[in-house]
Amino acid sequence: MSNATTSRVSITTLAAKKKAGQRWAMLTCYEQMTASIFDQADIPVLLVGDSAGNNFLGEENTIPVTVDQLIPLAKAVVSASTKAMVVGDLPFGSYESSPEQALATATRFFKEAKVQAVKLEGGAKVVPQIEKLIAAGIPVMGHLGLTPQSVHALGGFKVQGRGDDAQRIKADALALQKAGVFAVVLELVPAKLAAEITAELSIPTIGIGAGVDCDAQVLVWTDLMGITENPPKLAKAYRNLRKEMTDAAKEFAQDVAIGRFPTDKESFN
Ligand code: KIV
Repeated sequence: MSNATTSRVSITTLAAKKKAGQRWAMLTCYEQMTASIFDQADIPVLLVGDSAGNNFLGEENTIPVTVDQLIPLAKAVVSASTKAMVVGDLPFGSYESSPEQALATATRFFKEAKVQAVKLEGGAKVVPQIEKLIAAGIPVMGHLGLTPQSVHALGGFKVQGRGDDAQRIKADALALQKAGVFAVVLELVPAKLAAEITAELSIPTIGIGAGVDCDAQVLVWTDLMGITENPPKLAKAYRNLRKEMTDAAKEFAQDVAIGRFPTDKESFN
């Protein structure tokens, strides 16, 4: 029997990093190739985000993503990794109705994809859901600030928590911590607010467009690698894989057109 479960990063590992003041990185991941690459690169947490909607499934945003779509992606990421904690994102409409709905959805992620934690969006209003999951033994990651599943209610992809709204996000962060989340994503909030929340919480904050003072940072992997066509301001492209891949595809097509591929090396007697 495999003992892979025991060697993965756990919520205890992340709590210890917060205590020791060690920063860490999280990446989104939607399939096996990037899962094995990021796992071998020692990225401690892989998020099978509902950003699969607009980065993998051809949707405009995260809202149409379903549990049935995300579970096979999460399963592939778990299968192709051995060290990272894999977190499954609960899609829009799969947890809001009741704690029971949240537990049924998270249970599917646990049993079918074998993720080690789930993430859901929202503040005080999802505390009953979080408590239900944690009571069932399911670690939960929170998500505050710009919560993409509520993009229409928020009036677009706008910075959250400016001015008086800062108090609401702080109160939500404290409510999530009290409910037992092991970490909280802070998306598109002013850097100063994220720093204050990070200092106040005993659990790690994971920033995305939330400044440098968060305990961890997350990026959508296609943004990191420079594949996304119009990346958001919060992203940094560490490579230009869009160009690399375009050039490789063009070279291949050209080689085929002029009979330069395959050569004897790629052929069989
Ligand atoms: O789905 C996702 O990719 C996310 C991250 C941006 C935090 O929720």
